[in-house]
Amino acid sequence: FHSFSSASLSSSLSVDDHGLQKQIDELSSFSDTPAPSVTRVLYTEKDVLARRYIKNLMGLSGLSVREDAVGNIFGRWDGSEPELAAVATGSHIDAIPFSGKYDGVVGVLGAIEAINVLKRSGFKPKRSLEVISFTSEEPTRFGISCLGSRLLTGSKALAEALKNTFDSQNVSFVEAARSAGYAKDQDDLSSVFLKNGSYSAFLELHIEQGPILEAEGLSIGIVTAIAAPASIKVDFEGNGGHAGAVLMPNRNDAGLAAAELALAVEKHVLESGSIDTVGTVGILDLHPGAINSIPSKSHLEIDTRDIDEERRNGVIEKIKQSAITIAKNRGVKLSEFNIINQDPPALSDKSVIEAMEAASKELNLTHKLMISRAYHDSLFMARISPMGMLFIPCYRGYSHKPEEYASIEDIANGVKVLALTLSKLSLS
Ligand code: GLV
Ligand code: MN
Ligand code: MN
Ligand code: MN
Repeated sequence: FHSFSSASLSSSLSVDDHGLQKQIDELSSFSDTPAPSVTRVLYTEKDVLARRYIKNLMGLSGLSVREDAVGNIFGRWDGSEPELAAVATGSHIDAIPFSGKYDGVVGVLGAIEAINVLKRSGFKPKRSLEVISFTSEEPTRFGISCLGSRLLTGSKALAEALKNTFDSQNVSFVEAARSAGYAKDQDDLSSVFLKNGSYSAFLELHIEQGPILEAEGLSIGIVTAIAAPASIKVDFEGNGGHAGAVLMPNRNDAGLAAAELALAVEKHVLESGSIDTVGTVGILDLHPGAINSIPSKSHLEIDTRDIDEERRNGVIEKIKQSAITIAKNRGVKLSEFNIINQDPPALSDKSVIEAMEAASKELNLTHKLMISRAYHDSLFMARISPMGMLFIPCYRGYSHKPEEYASIEDIANGVKVLALTLSKLSLS
């Protein structure tokens, strides 16, 4: 006999929206750039302070806190049958340079508040509920996206690669992790792996990062699939030289090779025939970077995504052919063409989707099914657990810039749907 029918539970869920807004604002102050922008990069001092803030909140909510060797943070509320696989929810708190304060954060602070909401309502979980704050969803420091969740879900290739991964200042991953208090006595990061079946379900609450919910006046997006991202690093090398003295026919300009490749990326993406194919050259560095020196080296980082993996892989192949041709025609060397990741898309789990839909309906919140064009830790959690994601509207779809904004009303709606969905999955 459950005294908490979900109908009565849904009416007793109340979010402390003032408290939650205050936490979002406080967390945003751990930043290396001035407000309203937020910059919080993996294992920096500000990241460590933000982590402390999260662990403290988890403790205040009565969760038992654990961290793994790369700093994924887990806060657990034991259920009445703690031997059953837990239901987990979470997101990330790292922020790319000059971004906003909601990306990821809503899914971590919102998850802790969802636990508080359930506790205040008197709900008693059967399966344990666990909040996860994932390490480095953003690729800023080491060029690896979803580092924590990728490793957690068993990427042996990543555990191996991290032994030999450096940031742009030549600090090794392990050294950086140690400076933040992680990876203490082990070089082997396979201790982070979790078994398939560790969780009966994983949920992530996130701002949409797109304009659809706001434009359609809807409260909740229920994600059915996450688009497949890939990232590529490219280096060209030429002879460089004096910008006045070396005549044009005698140059092999690595910078122009990079410029030409950037335009080729756009062309191949546009030629895919689908609006769902996207490609971005977000990093383009020239060496030595002096106005009067022909670039002798160039470095590009290319992000390309699609909801269709094969079509995306076709674009990658064309980009590679272009890089080879451009290098040949310009007499520069293509010294690196490295596909850093080429991830498959992920599908949400049917029963998790149904639970999110039922929760939205019981709370009288308008909702629609949609795909996620941004990637998330959920992309990887889907490898070891049934997965589902909840989106809330955000202002004009802005994200990865300081103007990113979501109203506390929309956030609170997301937290309620998250709490009710967690309760359902905990009892199932
Ligand atoms: C993650 O932040 C992404 O780029 O989708
Ligand atoms: Mn992001
Ligand atoms: Mn995010
Ligand atoms: Mn993301």
